[in-house]
Amino acid sequence: MSKIKSFFQCQSCGYTSPKWLGKCPDCGAWNSLVEEKKEAITRQSSIVTHLGKSEARSLNSITGESMLRTSTGLKELDRVLGGGVVPGSVTLIGGDPGIGKSTLLLQAIYGLSKKTGKVLYISGEESPEQIKIRSERLSINSDEIILLSETSLESIVNTASKLSPKTMVVDSIQTVYTEELVSAPGSVSQVRDCAAKLMLFAKRSDIPVFIAGHVTKEGAIAGPRVLEHIVDTVLYFEGDRGHSYRILRTVKNRFGSTNEIGIFEMSDSGLIQVENPSELFLLERPLNVSGSTVVASLEGTRPVMVELQSLVSQTNFGMPRRTTIGVDFNRVNLLIAVLEKRAGLHLGGMDIFVNVVGGLRIIEPAVDLGIITTIASSLRDKPVDPGIFVFGEAGLSGEIRAVTQAEVRIKEASKIGFKRAVMPMGNAEKLKDNLGLEITGVKNVEDCLEAVLT
Ligand code: TYD
Ligand code: MG
Repeated sequence: MSKIKSFFQCQSCGYTSPKWLGKCPDCGAWNSLVEEKKEAITRQSSIVTHLGKSEARSLNSITGESMLRTSTGLKELDRVLGGGVVPGSVTLIGGDPGIGKSTLLLQAIYGLSKKTGKVLYISGEESPEQIKIRSERLSINSDEIILLSETSLESIVNTASKLSPKTMVVDSIQTVYTEELVSAPGSVSQVRDCAAKLMLFAKRSDIPVFIAGHVTKEGAIAGPRVLEHIVDTVLYFEGDRGHSYRILRTVKNRFGSTNEIGIFEMSDSGLIQVENPSELFLLERPLNVSGSTVVASLEGTRPVMVELQSLVSQTNFGMPRRTTIGVDFNRVNLLIAVLEKRAGLHLGGMDIFVNVVGGLRIIEPAVDLGIITTIASSLRDKPVDPGIFVFGEAGLSGEIRAVTQAEVRIKEASKIGFKRAVMPMGNAEKLKDNLGLEITGVKNVEDCLEAVLT
């Protein structure tokens, strides 16, 4: 006979305790422990028996054939997945409610259904009628898309086993529950268990599974980040409600690179892929205004030209304020110190705000030169020529270091119509083709400011 066990689990980090506590000792959240009941059946054993079935093999005896990827028909999604959908993979798409996860998944399985045949779309949030209305808006009609409104994981797996679709979508993980647990759908243990079971199902059947997951206010999927460890790929669908474009970002990918992004625009008839993001991000660029610089940045394998803006103004309080959006705060502080010490700029009594236009987040060091020029441009109130773009990494002694893939960056800039590149000397010297651009190589921060701001 199975025994019912009760325990308390933190809803934000998954910490469990036999007693109730006011504060989670693990993540420090207050009043986050909730009583959960679990039948003490040893589920662990089913995983172990499953694993026990596979035998040890030599690396060379394994062929990569089972890893053949299928394209979703959405290039932007394929890119973040690492080139398409891998059989038996579990992909989690996280994002705020209403950002467009269901829309993206519907469009993706439509593309997949055209290639592979039967796909199963399970929704615990919308009725088949609602999905039909949405699909009409997206001009999707297919006999191969099978809809199921179901929230019990056991029924879902049963139906899926019977139908054996080529792809399965579970929208969303917060609405499904497993009958083995007593706790409510959406709680940490339910979400974690359901994801683990879907993972097992995917691996056994080789059916790729997509899971939609809502993000909480704090930005984590279902409160805990537990899901991220379970699934193969984690994608975040981000975007500003005020803007129509959406960015699909990889957070984890067992089958590809994690620094790729996909860019979409939400329109009346669904998500449209943005194949030329640079043009989008530079669309509303103010010309001849101080504090604006264009950086040739690399997001994974693709170059994106983005505008960096900054505002430097006299501080009204004792402590100057530094605010950054889209670039690393500490990196900006470091560069401010470099500007003070190596280029003699007086920034000590200044409030400094740095922003990446368009909601992008840039983490690569090549953005350094952009941050430096935009701050200096704002401080001196001198606009940067709109035909100039920059890229390069800055060191603590004010030297400018070479970055990777200069050619790719220049090619993108020349496509958009830039005239002049200011880049590390190390890159400029090795450049084989200037693509009709005027190239200025710089060795240190002072050189750079001189090249850009005079
Ligand atoms: P949805 O995919 O339901 O979001 P999620 O599954 O992440 O909660 O997206 C809903 C939003 O997208 C809603 O605000 C309406 C908008 N939308 C469009 O603008 N155009 C469309 O063609 C569709 C289907 C939705
Ligand atoms: Mg939805």
